[in-house]
Amino acid sequence: MAKKKVEYLCEKCGAKFPKWTGRCGHCSAWESLKELTSVASSRSTWVDSGNKPIPLNDIHVDSEAERWKTGVFEFDRVIGGGIVQGSFGLLGGTPGVGKSTLILQLLARIARLNKKALYVTGEESGHQIKQRSNRLLIRQEDILIMVESEVEQILNAMKEHKPDFIVIDSIQTLFTNQFTASAGSVTQVRESANLLMKYAKRNDVSVLLIGHVTKEGDIAGPRTLEHMVDYVLYLEGEKREQHRLLRAVKNRFGTISEVGLFKMTAKGLVEVSKPNNLFVDKFNNPHPGMAIFAANEGTRTLFLEIQVLVGDTEQKNPARTCIGMDRNRLQVIVAVLEKHLQMDFSSNDIYVNLAEGFRVIEPAMDLPVTAALLSSYLLKPLPPKSIFIGEVALTGEFRSVPALQERLYEAARCGFELVFLPELAVKTGKFSQKGVQVVSVKDVQELMSLLS
Ligand code: TYD
Ligand code: MG
Repeated sequence: MAKKKVEYLCEKCGAKFPKWTGRCGHCSAWESLKELTSVASSRSTWVDSGNKPIPLNDIHVDSEAERWKTGVFEFDRVIGGGIVQGSFGLLGGTPGVGKSTLILQLLARIARLNKKALYVTGEESGHQIKQRSNRLLIRQEDILIMVESEVEQILNAMKEHKPDFIVIDSIQTLFTNQFTASAGSVTQVRESANLLMKYAKRNDVSVLLIGHVTKEGDIAGPRTLEHMVDYVLYLEGEKREQHRLLRAVKNRFGTISEVGLFKMTAKGLVEVSKPNNLFVDKFNNPHPGMAIFAANEGTRTLFLEIQVLVGDTEQKNPARTCIGMDRNRLQVIVAVLEKHLQMDFSSNDIYVNLAEGFRVIEPAMDLPVTAALLSSYLLKPLPPKSIFIGEVALTGEFRSVPALQERLYEAARCGFELVFLPELAVKTGKFSQKGVQVVSVKDVQELMSLLS
């Protein structure tokens, strides 16, 4: 008889191990490994067993699955045109970013579509939710509120009230009484999600789970949830800043390239449909170390302000600090400048900040960061009404990036006059746009001579 395979699961991070140890080899948590019983693992799907293979042509679908357009356009767009009936999704974000606020506003819209909405919370009292909904001016809409964290109770309520749309705030507060692990542990999060998913898929109801993101960026360890669900959305933004970006990182019903933009106000989240009209005015006053980047977010162009400060230091390890961009990319840019311009930053602290709490991972930000860095170093402002777009290669050359024509178009629309682009892109792409002058930059040497 085959020996039953025993695996151990870290309840903190979800890593699996063949042997028990006192400390997780992945996240270094103590005493966090628990035996993963075969019961737990066999349940990790909503699909019934015992199905026979059938030809694809014999499977009939009535029509396109029904989508509910919530009317919050920034949300509908990100999710691919509305919530698909019967979908199971996840909304992640750091605590306090505005997940519950967004959800309450969505539920009100869904209630207006004559859908029955159920909001389950294990985080707040009914009282607190009422206060928030008053603030959000949600008065007439009929939303069922349930303060509960036991999955079995929630399933009973779902059977009784038959809601069309259920939000769980948050998945970390749920537990099923089939397991003894504490709420928020990987086992509870995964098994609770499984039970809900089974019900949702069999009854064709839509469920959205809210999950807190830990500092490491995981939805509290249970990465496992990301592959189970139909879509994963993240609400991003700095608490003290107004802007919030809603991003899809997985979507079985649409693309993942769209981004929704909101502003947090005293009356909740407000959609921002023409973002650049808000930002552009501030850019007319260039300072040394400041550059404007035309970021490509989904089908939109956003103008973002990059600030770089190059300061002197006596420290052996000078600072390379980045807010809103990847530190490795800054290190590459510094290395390229040191190599190809024979500059020496070993006694300079370098700080990069992307204004208003935005985050960018596009390599197209290399050129504006390089320009801002040189501008700070030389103490010379960049030309007014100018923007920069391009990736830097290790050879010191600037390289082309996607969606240049769209960015040029938006630059012209918003009143920018100069656009610095990689020479390679200008040569091959013939980019032109009435109203803006394109300046081609071959490499870091040419950029330096243009600036000084
Ligand atoms: P919340 O939705 O509770 O965040 P999460 O569920 O992601 O933890 O929102 C928290 C913050 O939003 C809180 O600090 C207050 C602020 N807020 C507003 O500024 N305006 C509002 O109308 C509401 C409801 C919240
Ligand atoms: Mg909340």
